[in-house]
Amino acid sequence: MPRPIHLSLIGLICVSLASSQTIDPSLQDLINRNADFAARLYRAVSSRTDDNVFLSTFTLSTGLTALLGATSGTTRDQLLQGLSLSGLDPETLPDLFQNLRNQVLLGNQPMNLRQGVAVIPTMGFPVSSSYLDQVQTKFGGNTQNLAYTAPQEAADTINRYVQERTGDQIQELVSNLDPRTQMLLTTATSYDIRFSPSFNASLTQDERFYVDKYHVVIVPMMFRADKFYLAYDRSLKVGVLKLPLADGGAMLVVLPDEEVDITGVEEEVNGEKIREWIRQLKKTKLEVQLPRFLVEQSYTLRDSLQTLSITQVFQDDAEIVNIGETKGPKLTQVYHKSIMSVDETIDGTNSGGRVTTFSTLPPRLTINRPFLFVVYQESSGSVLLMGRVIDPTKK
Ligand SMILES: *[C@@H]1O[C@H](CO)[C@@H](O)[C@H](O)[C@H]1NC(C)=O
Repeated sequence: MPRPIHLSLIGLICVSLASSQTIDPSLQDLINRNADFAARLYRAVSSRTDDNVFLSTFTLSTGLTALLGATSGTTRDQLLQGLSLSGLDPETLPDLFQNLRNQVLLGNQPMNLRQGVAVIPTMGFPVSSSYLDQVQTKFGGNTQNLAYTAPQEAADTINRYVQERTGDQIQELVSNLDPRTQMLLTTATSYDIRFSPSFNASLTQDERFYVDKYHVVIVPMMFRADKFYLAYDRSLKVGVLKLPLADGGAMLVVLPDEEVDITGVEEEVNGEKIREWIRQLKKTKLEVQLPRFLVEQSYTLRDSLQTLSITQVFQDDAEIVNIGETKGPKLTQVYHKSIMSVDETIDGTNSGGRVTTFSTLPPRLTINRPFLFVVYQESSGSVLLMGRVIDPTKK
């Protein structure tokens, strides 16, 4: 015979679970899928260049998922698959994405990420009011028609929007637009990174950074002795260091062992690998040296997206709905630019640069060769930014 005391206990447990900081499973699923997409896109972009790489993968997920709402048929299926969203109902995605945006950008601990996302068809392809509303309310973006036949004016309009959305940090996203452009997806991001605790600027010293076997550059190396979270991935031979940020985010610095080639590591990075690194972090005393760096990268992503099998949206037979009366435009290009400056800047909410003294000298981790980084929100595990620094004296 069931005893009431048990039921009330179960009731109590349920209440306490619901009120703790757990993430809704469908939201967690979207977060994991976005991290998979982030890593795949990162690999597609980084394999095309030897330079530093910097992507706001969160902004690109926002823009491409917003675009998804204007597609149908194979075009939509390809986008779903390319974004690692296959199996999800495209009808409920806008609401799910809005939950994600609330969690990441508008919640009680919003990330310092400013982004501008816009879907911009040329004149003659009017945007339906329902799609306009969806882009604005669910994705925090914009969609409007522009006359690309006046390319300079169109570029000025796009760049003004980007300036406004990134707090003037990004001045120019596009230039020399093609007058035959049918539709653009434009995405721009500035991230205001503040380590917490911050590095103490008076301990920063010029040190060597080994770009490759033949190139050494001198960079300002920041320094902090503290307790850090660190992991070591034996299969890839990389160290993973977590640097907490003042906005509730964290930066993972992924440093390959000296004899390990960074491109081999990149090939193995995926969403699950990032989650595994985070799970394996352990607290340890360390002296950390990290170069100051500023990354500012600009991409046209059509080719990279096509390697993720997102192809039809760029072709004449693109199935676009909600834009254009009988037949919609094809997507001409996806522009992406993002900027982040990593330095000792002190966050207003913490004293920063505190002096920690240990009775015995802890080991020193010196980030003095090419490394990867991932910026994510700690509470949700949402991956926002990914990049690599080959040469910290370059953008
Ligand atoms: C930074 O380091 C200097 C030199 O060790 C020290 O004098 C100063 O107090 C430190 N600043 C802070 C905010 O801890």
